[in-house]
Amino acid sequence: MLYLKKLTYHPPATPIAILKSLNLELAPQQLGLVIGPSGSGKTTFLEILSGLAQATTGGIFWRDQELTPDHLQQLGGLVFQFPERHFCGSTVLDELRMGHPELGSHRVHEALAEVGLANLSLHTPPHALSGGQQRRLALAVQLIRQPSVLMLDEPTAGLDWSMRRQLVTLLAKLKTHWTLLVVTHDAGELLPIADCCWTLKHGELEAVEPATLAHKAVVNQDSFLEKASTAPHP
Ligand SMILES: Nc1ncnc2c1ncn2[C@@H]1O[C@H](COP(=O)(O)OP(=O)(O)O)[C@@H](O)[C@H]1O
Ligand SMILES: [Mg+2]
Repeated sequence: MLYLKKLTYHPPATPIAILKSLNLELAPQQLGLVIGPSGSGKTTFLEILSGLAQATTGGIFWRDQELTPDHLQQLGGLVFQFPERHFCGSTVLDELRMGHPELGSHRVHEALAEVGLANLSLHTPPHALSGGQQRRLALAVQLIRQPSVLMLDEPTAGLDWSMRRQLVTLLAKLKTHWTLLVVTHDAGELLPIADCCWTLKHGELEAVEPATLAHKAVVNQDSFLEKASTAPHP
């Protein structure tokens, strides 16, 4: 179980706190979804949870243990927004073993199988993969380290409709083994697979029922379709 207690992030350069006293609980094998507009602090939030930045006040706990940024770096696996831009291995194998040359071929195959890339040649250069395969590889790069919490920053950004569907199906499968925390500005397809949801607005996190948001999304889509169908043809 991951707990956040009154987590605040207020860098000296900013007049007001970016994250204000956030509380959150995430149970194992659940998918938690944080939805917030651009600039609301989602990436900053994941940077703190993955130990890349340090909270100003408040704590992050795993079961009863308070976690330091070092612990968080070991426990967490962060998949950046547009992770394919950070690939630096010359082959799929290099990319997976980056910083972990000790990982054996069993772990490599297991990680690729988890993300549906079992048939991929290990010698393929990452940049030669399709967009959807690159996103899967980026997930495998984190999963191979067996993180306690897999965090994803805007995982559907920049994907077309069919790749988004495939990614959502994959995340739904992954949450049967792993604990996932996803941040996004576009909850659309992710809502149906979320177990718990929060909105992040002006640095404040508020729990919401996924079902309530899903209903709103449908209503918004209906009114959009209504407008589209009543709009005069050009
Ligand atoms: N260390 C920092 N110092 C000053 N401002 C920061 C710092 N980290 C993040 N910010 C600001 O916090 C806001 C939230 O950024 P970000 O976490 O990237 O939002 P999101 O991912 O939701 O778009 C932005 O306005 C960003 O410029
Ligand atoms: Mg962001």
